[in-house]
Amino acid sequence: MNEQDIFTKITEEFYWFHRHPELSYEEVETTKRLRADLAAAGIKVLDLPLKTGLVAEVGTGKAPFVALRCDIDGLPIHEESGLPYASEHEGRMHACGHDFHISTVLGSALLLKAREKELKGTVYLLFQPAEEAPGGAKKVMETGVLKDVQAIFGLHTLPIYDVGTLGIREGAVTASVDKFTVTFHGKGTHAAHPERGVDPIVMAASFVTAAQSIVSRNINPAHPALVSITHIESGNTWNVIPESSWLEGTVRCLTAADRELIKKRIYGLAEGQAASFGGHAELTWYAGPPATNNTPSWTEFAKEEAEKAGLKVEPAPVNLAGEDFAYYQEEIPGAFVLVGTGKSPANHNPKFHVDPKALGPAAKYMATLAEEALARL
Ligand code: NI
Repeated sequence: MNEQDIFTKITEEFYWFHRHPELSYEEVETTKRLRADLAAAGIKVLDLPLKTGLVAEVGTGKAPFVALRCDIDGLPIHEESGLPYASEHEGRMHACGHDFHISTVLGSALLLKAREKELKGTVYLLFQPAEEAPGGAKKVMETGVLKDVQAIFGLHTLPIYDVGTLGIREGAVTASVDKFTVTFHGKGTHAAHPERGVDPIVMAASFVTAAQSIVSRNINPAHPALVSITHIESGNTWNVIPESSWLEGTVRCLTAADRELIKKRIYGLAEGQAASFGGHAELTWYAGPPATNNTPSWTEFAKEEAEKAGLKVEPAPVNLAGEDFAYYQEEIPGAFVLVGTGKSPANHNPKFHVDPKALGPAAKYMATLAEEALARL
């Protein structure tokens, strides 16, 4: 296949992937389709214990090794884009552009296959399941396939840039993502006899208010960070003070030190507020991915290759959404690049859409990153 045929092929595949979104760890048809596409091009798929997703290989089969990664899962969203190739799976949508990522990295695989004799090592193409779960990255890492990989590159759609523009930044582009739940235990009583109980709703309300001071009073004002309490439940009627209240929320920030400090303060405030009212708090912490961490040298390299390819480079906006690509970056240097896909409502919006014209240049760019990285190693 020549370059134009490859671009046509991945555009058709993009329409197919968009019409058939599957949720995290359920990407069975997506994986089947990818296997067929790769087999048709004579590209080897590694035999790994992954139920969904796959890793393909192009190159010499020998060191050095680099990896290109994409994620393949959709979201539980009812699509309202009005596109002719809108989702055919009710209540499921590729609303984060992972269909674009799949088609791009598939295109890179096909382009690299056409240049296999020129490659100075091996490229692994990671079609990772369950980014939204999140944590599919961990499943891929647990297979051990990345142990010799010296550089890794990933991409994400960014619907604020035009086609042909990339967002590249050293360090963090996305935040660490933690979730927490708190149960406040009080003592139930008649609403008319608060003195006989301990009100867990007052504890929760005080905690919600106090938690707003963490970012404003404890974190360096120059550091992006947030604490959001997003769900709260207690009681079931107007004249009873309940036994307990419950809430959950999330913490996002860019440094490990801030992450640790916010966690400590949330524990301190929840326990302290509860105790001050005569009750107690029970916390559970769920640690998600850390912040992404683009290595200076590979970030510079990614910018240089973009400029050589005639793409426009912008400093990527820092975003407090999460991205499990960060798990790879805890062990492997590399860069996570944001790809302009034309203006659209935000990712995860039911009207989110990407311009398929961005596919060809993105596939070629990612393939060049892999080939040139091998030449540098
Ligand atoms: Ni995404």
